[in-house]
This record gives sequence, C-alpha cells and structure tokens, in this order.
Amino acid sequence: MRRKIFVALFLMAFVLLVILSVIPMSPDGPEEPLTYRDNLEWPWEAPDSSTIPDNEEGELIRYGRDLVARTAWYLGPQGKIRKMSNGMNCQNCHLEAGTKPWGNNFGAVAATYPKYRERSGMVESIQKKINDCFERSLNGKTLDSTSREMRAMVAWMKWLGKDVPKGKKPLGTGITALPYLGRPASPDAGKLVYVAKCSRCHGANGEGLPDTLSGIGYTYPPLWGKYSYNKGAGLYRISKFAGYVKDNMPFGVAHGREELTDEQAWDVAAFVNSMDRPDKDLSHDWPDIATKPVDHPFGPFADSFSEQQHKYGPFGPIKLAREELTAAKDKSQAVKNK
Ligand code: HEC
Ligand code: HEC
Repeated sequence: MRRKIFVALFLMAFVLLVILSVIPMSPDGPEEPLTYRDNLEWPWEAPDSSTIPDNEEGELIRYGRDLVARTAWYLGPQGKIRKMSNGMNCQNCHLEAGTKPWGNNFGAVAATYPKYRERSGMVESIQKKINDCFERSLNGKTLDSTSREMRAMVAWMKWLGKDVPKGKKPLGTGITALPYLGRPASPDAGKLVYVAKCSRCHGANGEGLPDTLSGIGYTYPPLWGKYSYNKGAGLYRISKFAGYVKDNMPFGVAHGREELTDEQAWDVAAFVNSMDRPDKDLSHDWPDIATKPVDHPFGPFADSFSEQQHKYGPFGPIKLAREELTAAKDKSQAVKNK
C-alpha cells in the first residue's frame, strides 16, 4: 500500500516537472505576438502609433498623419492653411492614413525614395512624389518643400517606414498587380458592376457624397467629374484602379477577403475611367516613350498599338511585343560588342 502511494506521488511530481518545462518562462508576463519586424517576409504593418515620440519631432509626425487623413480640412477648397486641392483626402486612396496593409500604404516610401521614376525621367524625392499626388490625384497645386506641411508629411512617412531596410519593398505595400485579362476590359460590363456594388456610396453619377456635417471633404469621395482625380493620376491607369479596388472596395473588404473577381475589378476600372474627369498637361511625362506603362492611354507610343488598346487592353500582346523588342535590341547590342 505505502509503496503504491509512493509511486503515485513520484509520477505526479514527474508530470508536474514536464508541464513546467514546456511552459515558456517569461519574466514580464505573456510574450509579445510576433510582428513584421521579426520576419521581414511577412506583410508590412505600421509601427505602433503610441510609440511616436513625445517631442517636437513627434508633433511633426502626428501633424503629418493628420494632413494625410484630413487633407481637405487643411488644404482643400476651404482649407484652413491653404486652398490648393480638390476636397479629397490623401487617405481616400492611402487608407487609414497610409497604414493599411494592401491599402496603398506608405510602408515602402522611406526605404525606396529617392528613386528613379520613368514617368519624369529623373530621380524623385519623397517631396516630389507627394506633390505629384497633389497635382494629379487631388487635381491641385504643389506645396513648397520647406513648408511645415510638407515636412510633416515626409516625417510621417519616414516614421512609418523606419523598420524597413533601405531599398526593400515589403509585402503588402503598393498596389496589387492583377493578372491581365485575355480580352479588352469592358466599360459596359463595368457599369453593371458599378450599379450593383459601388453607386450606393459613390453616387449614381460618381459624384460621391459630401460630408454635410462638417461641410468639408467627403463621406464617400467622388470617382469621376470635376472634383475627382485628373487624367494624369495613378488611378487613371486601369491596372492601378483595378488592383486598388479589388483589395479595398466595396469599402470594408480586405486582401484575402475580396468581394470582386479580377474580371469585375478590371471592368469597373474601365467603366470609371471612361467617364469625364479633369485634364492634365502630360506632354512632359515619360520623356522616353518606350518606358510608358502598357496601360498608359496617351500616345505617342514606341509600339504600334492604338490608344484604345493601351487604355482597355488586352495588354498581354503589348507586353509581349515590348519584350520581343527589348530582346532584339539586346541581341544587336551583343553583336556590336563582339
Ligand atoms: C485618387 C487616389 C489618390 C489620392 C487622393 C492620393 N494618392 Fe498618392 N498615390 C496614388 C496611387 C495610385 C499611387 C501609386 C501607387 C503604386 O503605383 O503602387 C500613389 C503613390 C503615392 C506615393 C508613393 C508610394 C510608393 O510607395 O511609391 C506617395 C508618397 C503618395 N502617393 C502620397 C500621397 C499624398 C501625400 C497624398 C495627398 C496629398 C496622396 N498621395 C493622395 C493615388 C492617390
Ligand atoms: C460602403 C460604401 C462604399 C462602397 C460600396 C464602395 N466604396 Fe469606394 N470608397 C468608400 C470610401 C469611404 C472611400 C474612402 C476611404 C477613406 O477615406 O478612408 C472610398 C474610396 C474609393 C476610391 C479611392 C478614392 C477616389 O474617390 O478615387 C476608389 C477608386 C473607390 N472607392 C472605388 C470603388 C468602387 C469601384 C466600388 C465598387 C466596386 C466602391 N468603391 C464601393 C466607400 C465605398
């Protein structure tokens, strides 16, 4: 009898020891969940905003975040600081002040600028890129690069990207490139998608819904018409529009939980970008016309495809022709070098 109790106690002690040895010992409570910073192959996520420093620099960073979120308040048609843009907010397209994974966020900006961009044919600073969005996406004017507003937005972007190694573009930043369709994207089919899935917020005429409570900006931003982005904007390329909308619209969906099919995204992009919107002088864009993206809809082009095909596709043949041209060029270069 005594022996049985002794064996049982011994076993219990052993089991207890085993259990204790597999519980991780951590002196200050439960372990932090792993994040982007522990594995740079994971989707980018913004640093914790409660860690923005409590000093002058931190104030500038917070001001930058607010300028991105409430651009119209400061810089819109009735802007408190300057009247220089169309009433949209940067965050209408760069969701959650540019922090949302797959929401066209600013995670890669600090690490990849300054960079050479083919549209301008020069090395661009963050300031230049911000002013590009002001002039095109917000159909407005530019900010002086020494202004407090510009310094604040740059500070916000640099803080957001502070954990990204130089030169790296993390997963979930930028806009998803959807596979090309084998046919032209169809504004007619896109109109049906628009009516079914977009017009309840963005309006039957793409006019959006002004924020009547504050009288400033929009509850739902416009998608076409004179208060929308102009023809020089990134979203005017249907690949960018389709990629952005697939991951983020109808508002509330997210990457991995999309509602639109690729086809619906391409078609609704074709429909929205077939509607009227402000013009922009683009004569200085793409000084080397051979570098125009396949879906830049304005000639002259280095290839023989029409403006129509460059606007709606199919883009596969354009891409192929371009690759063949480059291959031929490389070959003749190799022959010359022999
Ligand atoms: C109508 C939509 C729209 C609005 C509004 C908008 N942008 Fe953009 N922005 C874009 C698109 C599209 C891109 C290109 C993204 C890509 O090609 O991956 C872009 C790119 C950028 C980039 C470069 C990002 C990168 O990783 O290369 C910065 C910086 C930027 N925008 C800043 C701003 C700021 C600041 C504002 C407000 C003044 C603003 N944008 C308003 C659509 C918009
Ligand atoms: C439930 C309302 C809602 C629906 C439905 C919706 N959107 Fe949006 N959309 C928004 C809001 C809100 C924003 C601005 C997000 C922000 O500022 O945080 C936005 C922003 C956008 C933008 C970028 C800003 C601009 O105005 O250019 C595009 C493009 C867009 N939506 C396209 C679409 C398309 C296409 C559909 C249909 C497939 C759609 N949306 C459906 C609410 C909606």
